Amino acid sequence: MIQTDRNAPVGIFDSGVGGLTVAREIMRQIPEERIVYFGDTARVPYGSKSRDTILRYSRQIVRFLQSQGVKAIVIACNTASAYALDEVAAETDIPVIGVINAGARTAVAATRNGRIGVIGTEATVGSGIYTKVMQEMKPDIQVIGKACPLFVPLVEEGLLHDSVTDEIASRYLSVLKNKYIDTLVLGCTHYPLLRSTVRRIMGEDVVLVNPAYETAIELRDLLKKSGMNRNPEEAFEGEQYQFFVSDLAEKFRDFATSILPNEVKETRQIEIENY
Ligand code: DGL
Repeated sequence: MIQTDRNAPVGIFDSGVGGLTVAREIMRQIPEERIVYFGDTARVPYGSKSRDTILRYSRQIVRFLQSQGVKAIVIACNTASAYALDEVAAETDIPVIGVINAGARTAVAATRNGRIGVIGTEATVGSGIYTKVMQEMKPDIQVIGKACPLFVPLVEEGLLHDSVTDEIASRYLSVLKNKYIDTLVLGCTHYPLLRSTVRRIMGEDVVLVNPAYETAIELRDLLKKSGMNRNPEEAFEGEQYQFFVSDLAEKFRDFATSILPNEVKETRQIEIENY
């Protein structure tokens, strides 16, 4: 059902905690907006699953978020953006945006030598979506992709600053180090949480692009343009930020509290297969 209430929340989803890096940016840049976040913690990771499965999961989550009355949806997951954005956006009567266009745009604007690296899940890198989108923006851009499948479990385990993470990151990124890239897209929403490790290995001269930043701007502009931005003066019932997961609600809540500006008091578990 189309949502006409500008005070309705924005829906954000990811396979787990990664999308919180996007939610965090939206909280920073448009603090007046309300958010309903869903993390598919029962079915993470998405990055090693097929297109059909990712599309089915995404459709269920979009139905759940619409049942919460959201006015727009942000797919805060590169993998789901790569495989499901076009379909779910065409099937849904509220705006749906992903993270890939925003990341691609920022990287194309940042590069000086036209050589851009993209790290992401196997699904995202295998889809070739960043190459396609960036070359549509600028045909002579060269894109070097590298899947980093162990990054997601390392982040989900909270090993953000750990020698195991350093070792794995060095191995993955060594492939990119001798390709003369000057810009690297953190093409998985979990990866900004490993930013300091990636920065240390890639060095100061490589621009690291976190698509979350531009995605928040895109959402802000979209809401404003359609007159759907929230009026901060108007009262609402309940929490400004609500969190739902498909499993392990407490673990999620603790993780979310560690990376968001405010404590997450409650996370509710729902049966996503019912949607
Ligand atoms: N955070 C997700 C992404 O941006 C996917 C992680 C996963 O579930 O594999 O691609």
